[in-house]
Amino acid sequence: MDQVSQIRDKVDIVSLISEFIPLKKAGRNFKANCPFHGEKTPSFVVSPERQIWHCFGCGLGGDCYTFLMEYEKMEFPEALRALAKQTGITLVSERATAGTTSKKELLYEINSFAKEYYHYVLTKLPVGKQALEYVLNRGITLQLIETFKIGFSPSTDQSLVNYLTKKKNYKKEDILDAGLAFVGRSGLVDFFRGRLMFPLIDHRDNVVGFSGRVLEADAPSKYINTRETLVYHKGEHVFGLNITKEAIRREKQAIVVEGEFDVLSCFGAGVGNVVAVKGTALTDSHVSLLHRYAQKITFCFDDDKAGQEAIKRSLVVVEKKGLTPTVIVLPNGKDPDEAIKTEPGLFKKAAKEDVGIYDYLLAKLIDTNDVDSAEGKRSLVDEFLSFVALIQNEIVKEHYLRKLSSEVGISYESIAKELQRFVQRQTAPVQSEPIKKKRVREEMLEEYVLALIVQSNDPKKTVQSVVKILSDSMSRERAYQKILLHLIEHIETSTHQEEPFDGKEFGDKLPSELVTHFNTSVLFPLPQFESQDDLLAEVNKKAGELRKLYLQKKIKELSEEIHKKEDSEDISDLRKKYTQLARQLEQ
Ligand code: CTP
Ligand code: MN
Repeated sequence: MDQVSQIRDKVDIVSLISEFIPLKKAGRNFKANCPFHGEKTPSFVVSPERQIWHCFGCGLGGDCYTFLMEYEKMEFPEALRALAKQTGITLVSERATAGTTSKKELLYEINSFAKEYYHYVLTKLPVGKQALEYVLNRGITLQLIETFKIGFSPSTDQSLVNYLTKKKNYKKEDILDAGLAFVGRSGLVDFFRGRLMFPLIDHRDNVVGFSGRVLEADAPSKYINTRETLVYHKGEHVFGLNITKEAIRREKQAIVVEGEFDVLSCFGAGVGNVVAVKGTALTDSHVSLLHRYAQKITFCFDDDKAGQEAIKRSLVVVEKKGLTPTVIVLPNGKDPDEAIKTEPGLFKKAAKEDVGIYDYLLAKLIDTNDVDSAEGKRSLVDEFLSFVALIQNEIVKEHYLRKLSSEVGISYESIAKELQRFVQRQTAPVQSEPIKKKRVREEMLEEYVLALIVQSNDPKKTVQSVVKILSDSMSRERAYQKILLHLIEHIETSTHQEEPFDGKEFGDKLPSELVTHFNTSVLFPLPQFESQDDLLAEVNKKAGELRKLYLQKKIKELSEEIHKKEDSEDISDLRKKYTQLARQLEQ
C-alpha cells in the first residue's frame, strides 16, 4: 500500500473534521451545517464507515485530503504532510518529501524570512531606531512588537532583496511572486521601503503578506499592502487572528476593527478577542473564517461615514451566515486606538457593553432624522426596514418592528405592511431554476431504500426483508438496482454469516462505476427514526411502492405490445403474462 492510502487509512475522518466544525451523530453517519456554503439545515454528511464526506447542498465531497484542501485551502502535498505528521507516519518516498515544496509553501517561507528580517531591523539596528521611537510613542510596547512581530523596512532600494538573494539564496522570480519586490531599472527593488511593517499572518501561522505604514502622521499612501499573490487575498484575510484566535474561541466573540493599530491597542488594553479587516467591509470568506471560532461578530469601526457604511455592508454577510451582530459604541475618539489612548477604562467598559446592531442603527437614525415630521418618519422607517429585512430570526425581527413602531409613533400594523412592501420590491423576478436532469421516481425511491438498508443497524436483516418484496419485480437497469443485487449476493455468499455487515469491505469490492452511487447511499441524509422497527417499517413501505411501480411499468409495456400485435398468434401468451402481472400487482 502506498503512503497516501496508508495515511488515509490511519486518519479518522470524524475526529479530523470535528477539529474544524461540530459534528452531530445521525444514525451511522455524522452531520453538520456545510462549511462550504451557507445553510441552516445540515446537508453536510460524514461517513465513518467509508471515511468520506459529502454535502448534499453544494455537491462538494471527498476524503481526508480533499477536506483539508477545501477547508484549509491546502495543496495536496501540504495536506499529505499535515496528515502524515498527525498520524505519526514518516514520509519516505521522494515524491512526497523532497523537491515538492509547493509554490505556496515557498512563498510562505520567503515571507517568513522577510518578517524576521524586518523585525530584526526594527528592534536591533540603528536604521530602525526612528521607527522604533515612532511605535513606542504611539503606546505600543516592546512586548506587543514582539507578539505581532512588527518590523521596519529600510528606505534603501535593495535591502530585503539583497538579504533574500545573497544570504538566503532565493530566486528573484520567487521574491517577485511573493510581492516583496518589483523590477526596476537596475534589477529588483524592494516593494516596501521606509515603512513600519506589519506581517499578515493567517490562522495557521503562515506569513501571507505585509502591510507597511509610513512614519509621517499622514501621507498620500499612508498604508500599502502586499498585492494579491498566490497566498495573499485581501478579501480572505483578517489581521491578528494567528494571535487572537484562542481568545476569540474562549469569548465566542470576534471584535472586528478597521486597522492594525486598533488591534494592537485593544490587545494591549486586555481586549484580546479582536481582528482587523483593514479598512474594508467583511466578506463571506472573512465571516466563514471567524465563524470557526465565534458565534458573535462585534463591530468597532471608525466613528465616521466610511465606518458606518462598512458596518451596513458587513451586516448583510453576518446575517446571511447566521451569526449575531453587535456593536461597540466608542465612548470617545475617532477609532478604537484613539479611544484607548484617551481613556482605556472607558473603552473596556464599552467593549463589555456591546449593543445589538439594530438598536444601534435605530438610535443613529433617530439622531439624524426629524422624527416629528411625516417626511422624517418616512425616511427613517424606510432605511431601518432595509436592515430589519435582513434579520433571519422572526422573533428578533418582530422585536425590532415593535421597537420602531413605538419610537416613531406609527402603528405596528402599518410598519409590518411597509416591510412586506419593501421585501416585495426587493425580490427580483424569480429566475427559473436550471432544469435538472429529470430523475424518474423509481430511481429516487431506489436511492432512498438503499440508503435505509445500508444505514440501518443490521443491514443484513434489512436487506432480507426487502428481497422478499422486490425479488419478483426488480430488473437491473439502474445503478441502485445493481448495487442492491450486489448487496443481496454479497450477503448470501458471505462466509461469515454471523459477522456484521462491513460497508468498507463491500464498497471496496464494488465495480468502480457503482462506487459513487454506493457512497451516496451511505451518506444520504435520512429522517430520524424512533426505533429500528420504525425504520424497518419504512423500508417495507417504500419497497412496496417500488414493487408497484415496477409492475405497473411492466404491465404498461406489455399492453403496448399486445396492441401492436393485435392479429398475430402469440397474443394468448402475452395475455396470460398480463393477467399474471395484474394478479401480482393486486397482492
Ligand atoms: N488601509 C489599507 N490601505 C489603505 C488605507 C488604509 O489597507 N490605502 C487599512 C489599514 O489597515 C488601516 C485601516 O485601513 O489601518 C484604516 O485606515 P485609516 O483609518 O486611514 O487608518 P488608521 O487605522 O487610523 O491608521 P493610523 O492609526 O496608523 O493613522
Ligand atoms: Mn488610527
